[in-house]
Amino acid sequence: MEKFTEGAITFFAENKQTRDAKVFFNPSRKFDRDLNILFINVIGKRKMEGIDLFGGSGVRSLRLAAETDYFSSITVNDIKTSAIIRKNIALNKKKLKARIDVLSMNAQDIYNLQNGYDYVDIDPFGSPVKYMVQALQKVRFGGLLAITATDSAALYGKAKKACMLKYGAVSLKTRYFNEIGLRILIKRTEEIANLSDRSIEPLLFDVRKHYLRVYLRVTAADISRRIGPIYQCTKCMNRGTECPVKCDVCGATMKQVGPMWLGKLFDRNLVKRMYDISDGQLKEYLEVMKDETDSVGYYTTDQMASFLKEKEKKCGLIGCRTVLDDKGFRTDMPLKDLLKEYKNLQ
Ligand SMILES: C[S@@+](CC[C@H](N)C(=O)[O-])C[C@H]1O[C@@H](n2cnc3c(N)ncnc32)[C@H](O)[C@@H]1O
Repeated sequence: MEKFTEGAITFFAENKQTRDAKVFFNPSRKFDRDLNILFINVIGKRKMEGIDLFGGSGVRSLRLAAETDYFSSITVNDIKTSAIIRKNIALNKKKLKARIDVLSMNAQDIYNLQNGYDYVDIDPFGSPVKYMVQALQKVRFGGLLAITATDSAALYGKAKKACMLKYGAVSLKTRYFNEIGLRILIKRTEEIANLSDRSIEPLLFDVRKHYLRVYLRVTAADISRRIGPIYQCTKCMNRGTECPVKCDVCGATMKQVGPMWLGKLFDRNLVKRMYDISDGQLKEYLEVMKDETDSVGYYTTDQMASFLKEKEKKCGLIGCRTVLDDKGFRTDMPLKDLLKEYKNLQ
């Protein structure tokens, strides 16, 4: 076991990211935890009750309790690591502004708890789906849900059967694979929320090579939400949400991908407020996100350049940038028009 310091807290954990780790801890997800803290500092309401279902070392909850002012209590649960979580709480006692309770149950048993929560965090190994049915019912109306998925092979189009089984959707390895994965994850969450007459509203996301994390608000059921497929050309980069007979750029057939969430991926107002009080890497990230449009799917400048056999141009010239890819940009222009426009760029 090693001693680490992150943000305001010091804690014991193992620098090991596999299922057999005695106490899982991934230092490379510091950015994700920093974003989590900023998120709560902007959206939090006084006296929230939270539960962290897969606590690991407890680092996330300890930081939330030390670096935000909004929780009255946080319950940290982990099937395996409750002893070390208790030790880490004791180590940081003076810094904690919320009461921390510890549980060591199977996260699926959350259903048996009497309480509802204003904030529920699901960060398991692999897919979160099997925990979502029980967990979603424990989020109070208007409450917040944070979900991490690390089964990126399924969501990013490599493990197609797993995606169909867990998420009820066809994924595809495209250049904008991570957006497809994110939209499929949100779609599944909405479907599961619907089982208990609720809906979700996406507020923020952090999507990387090995994980996808989304922050959502649980709301009253809303049947106006947009779920549907994307149609992707089997030959070129053309795609859209309307079903064409053939690709209008190259004439090839179009493949149906999804169904997926076609609505907004984040709350712009919230992101702007987070941006205003952020710095460093967080500010860089939120600066791009706050100006992203809500269009579905993005193109990349390397893709455009190789399609047109031209040199690559800066993505900010042709559309708005996206946090999902350094070379990615969003536009509502049909590909046919976009290709002409891109050619004319200086
Ligand atoms: C990915 S780690 C969590 C990391 C932690 N949230 C963090 O930020 O460092 C997953 C944790 O879930 C625990 N776990 C695995 N299966 C569980 C289950 N069914 N119920 C509760 N905890 C479980 C593991 O012991 C492990 O600590």
